Amino acid sequence: MKTLIRNATVVLPEGTLPTSVLIDGGQIAAIDPAIHTQAETVVDAAGLHLIPGVIDDQVHFREPGLTHKEDLRHASRACAKGGVTTFLDMPNTTPNTTTQARLDEKLALAAERSLVNYGFYIGATPDNLDDLRRAQRTPGIKIFIGSSTGDLLVDDQDALERIFGETTLPLCAHCESETIIRANSQRYAGTQDVADHSRIRDHQAAVACTRRALDLAVRHQHRFHVLHVSTGAETQLVADHRGLITAEVCPHHLFFSVDDYPRLGTLAQMNPSLKTQQDGAQLWQALLDGRLQVVATDHAPHTLQEKQRPYPQSPSGVPAVENSLALMLNQANQGRCTIEQIVHWMCDAPARVWDIVGKGRIAVGYDADLVLVDMNKTAVIRNEEQQTKCGWSPWHGETLQGWPVRTWVRGHEVFRDGRFDESRGGAEAAYDHARGGYWRTA
Ligand code: DOR
Repeated sequence: MKTLIRNATVVLPEGTLPTSVLIDGGQIAAIDPAIHTQAETVVDAAGLHLIPGVIDDQVHFREPGLTHKEDLRHASRACAKGGVTTFLDMPNTTPNTTTQARLDEKLALAAERSLVNYGFYIGATPDNLDDLRRAQRTPGIKIFIGSSTGDLLVDDQDALERIFGETTLPLCAHCESETIIRANSQRYAGTQDVADHSRIRDHQAAVACTRRALDLAVRHQHRFHVLHVSTGAETQLVADHRGLITAEVCPHHLFFSVDDYPRLGTLAQMNPSLKTQQDGAQLWQALLDGRLQVVATDHAPHTLQEKQRPYPQSPSGVPAVENSLALMLNQANQGRCTIEQIVHWMCDAPARVWDIVGKGRIAVGYDADLVLVDMNKTAVIRNEEQQTKCGWSPWHGETLQGWPVRTWVRGHEVFRDGRFDESRGGAEAAYDHARGGYWRTA
């Protein structure tokens, strides 16, 4: 089956230009304005941008065990709609993903159920070093150095020294200091004000833990990716270790701040917590000047009923996977960034951070994970239209300009103008960790 996408404005590594892209057998076979090959499907994409599929390297799709919140079918539909063609899922499911057997189980579930490509991290515990050292078919190891949803936590210094010193897979971590969170929780014991979430999980909790993790990574010279940076101060810490450290930011930390608690209540509760508008501005600046490399969602769905419990019984996390690309494209339309930068942050950079083979850019021989984007389309995010099983979005009611309209996963068009073709699923992502990550690749 060949598909020819004609006359799109194509975002290529070497620049953005009007050209045509031929898909053959799930891969990009040719890029040329004058392709004359006969194709079964011809798409006239004049006026639209063609970009590589988004790789969201931080999602919680809740399968197995927490499928009342989300599951692989709903979440991967949300991905297809949002232009996300590959996701990397976190290990705080039930049971936790802390052994090869559990990883293999998740991969088998996704092979059956996911409409887009997938990968799964292995989670660190204080005593699964052998599992971490032997793990295969995974982008890397996730460490919760501060606790969040679930019971995965490695706070013990000796255990952390062993993980950073004696494993070889790429590492990433949730950085919020457990000691500081616990002390602040006592100070705010009895509070029902969700705004206190940002006083309990405060600036210092994030900065101190990121500093601690960077110290481990630098001493052990272990490549390390800081997940969901939430403060301006951390952007400077990570920038001091270019070459070894990469870092990412989530849409909620770019678009919301503590000032949104009165409007959103516990819908604005997530870990790391929201910080100030000034932090948000500093995160944007760090993205634009390259101190942060990746934008990913930390898609963390909980049901509305769960979110409506009084704080602090309300769980932390927000869904975002089906709106993240549109949220960023809307910023490009407003002149805050370019579509090329978005492709770097959401497609190319995550592929390089995790050594993902054949993804993240539009190039001959790469997988045909592609998204057609209409920069002129305006639409409102509505809870009723969300594909995520939790059925709500913290951006409900917001109007965005710039939306994904068609999505191909390995050459199969899985989403087109609001409809899904679920006749074929995604595939397991492949990793070549010998590449050495973001800083060693161009
Ligand atoms: O807010 C969050 N929710 N942050 C995390 O790190 C975990 C996530 C979840 O799994 O709910």
